[in-house]
Amino acid sequence: MRDLVIVSNRVSVPQAGRQQAGGLAVAINNALASHGGIWFGWNGEVSDARESARCTQRGNVTYATLPLQQREHDEYYLGFSNEVLWPIFHLNLGAMNFHRRFAETYYATNERFASEITPLLKGNELIWVHDYHLIPLGNALRRRDVDTPIGFFLHIPFPSAELLRCIPGHKRLLMQFLDYDLLGFQTPRDQESFRDAATRILGATVKGNVLFHGDRRVRLGTYPVGVDVDTLQQESQHSETKRTLMNLRASLGHCALIAGADRLDYSKGLSMRLGAIQELLEHYPEYRRKVLYTQVASPSRCAINEYDELRQKLETQAGHINGLYSDLGWAPVHYINKTYPRAVLMGLFRAARVGLVTPVRDGMNLVCKEFVAAQDPQDPGVLVLSEFAGAAQELDGALLVNPYDPHTITQALHQALQMPQEERRQRHASMLKNLTHNSLTQWWQRFVEDLRYTLPHALSTLPPARRSIING
Ligand code: F6P
Repeated sequence: MRDLVIVSNRVSVPQAGRQQAGGLAVAINNALASHGGIWFGWNGEVSDARESARCTQRGNVTYATLPLQQREHDEYYLGFSNEVLWPIFHLNLGAMNFHRRFAETYYATNERFASEITPLLKGNELIWVHDYHLIPLGNALRRRDVDTPIGFFLHIPFPSAELLRCIPGHKRLLMQFLDYDLLGFQTPRDQESFRDAATRILGATVKGNVLFHGDRRVRLGTYPVGVDVDTLQQESQHSETKRTLMNLRASLGHCALIAGADRLDYSKGLSMRLGAIQELLEHYPEYRRKVLYTQVASPSRCAINEYDELRQKLETQAGHINGLYSDLGWAPVHYINKTYPRAVLMGLFRAARVGLVTPVRDGMNLVCKEFVAAQDPQDPGVLVLSEFAGAAQELDGALLVNPYDPHTITQALHQALQMPQEERRQRHASMLKNLTHNSLTQWWQRFVEDLRYTLPHALSTLPPARRSIING
């Protein structure tokens, strides 16, 4: 079996006795443990000096991590990745803040990553690159004569060609995708948007799921990230989950809990969500003192203005709603600007009558899947979900809403709060079945399997007979 090399912006090194941050990190660690290999990326620190990768060994997995230099942090991570690519890929042109130096440092940092990775390779690995921070990495590795299969998975949505064109240098960026053997997307819609951009902007051609450009051929695929339901359900037996659930139930009294937990990001639609809660309390006074909305908003990318402005806006909005509708002993909005371990969030979700997940754009969104997995199947809560989350296509039992319209969210909240138990059970059972069918384990196994069977990356390296088979 070939070793696996995973490259992502951040790396999650397992620590003894500590639960890992996210299910995705657990999945990547499982993938690595079953193949052996390397996980390469940023260790989360910023250093004045240019430091090389340091290796930490855990069983058959090497964690090779390095700090970013200040400039790389500001211009590659915050700048190009999160002030150019993130807003454009999430349909938010107004939040783009482009500077040429951001683009230069983005490409330079990818070059540095490639230079650090190359000496660690034995030459027969499968390389799997993750997400928008590292789009040019495949090209940088190819120029260093790496000729093993390299795959790329985009965790976030892919934008329309029109939006992509707004990024200065978009052609160069798009070309970088063509050095991979396999490109994975969360949903068929993202795959189509990529195909459309590559054909319209680059003049690439497509046959089936293979894209051709010059001597390049790239296979395209859809790999929706899932959750491991069994693992999550085992985790919900965790003492911290049980304690959270017990405390919440005791403090809720007769109130129904509406819960949300997201990174504090403009893509999550948090302000419109608060607007919907305000409308619910205004138009359905019977819910006053009868519902409680708890929103966990974990601080994120705080150095970027947009994020800081959003934090202030949400605090003001939550305070305003509480000012309008609170009563002695009851406040409708419990807004928490803090990061909790998953065990605590699982307790919050299980205590909730409604899970409110309304991003304006999201590659997949695992929170809504975790909400479903956390429910008691006999008495489950209802999921109110944005139609613009990648997960919407799998979660057929959710009440789908347009997140830009607080009124629709309010109507869905009312429907969820009134829904009879039997209907809640049916909707939940159907979603749980879909989640079990597309687990996180299957996600990585399918991608790695497909990557293993991609053909050599350049058509020119193939014998002519083989080339003509591929070309049809
Ligand atoms: O969804 C994209 C993503 O990069 C995730 O991989 C990550 O968990 C999240 O955003 C957090 O972003 P950051 O690394 O900027 O804190």
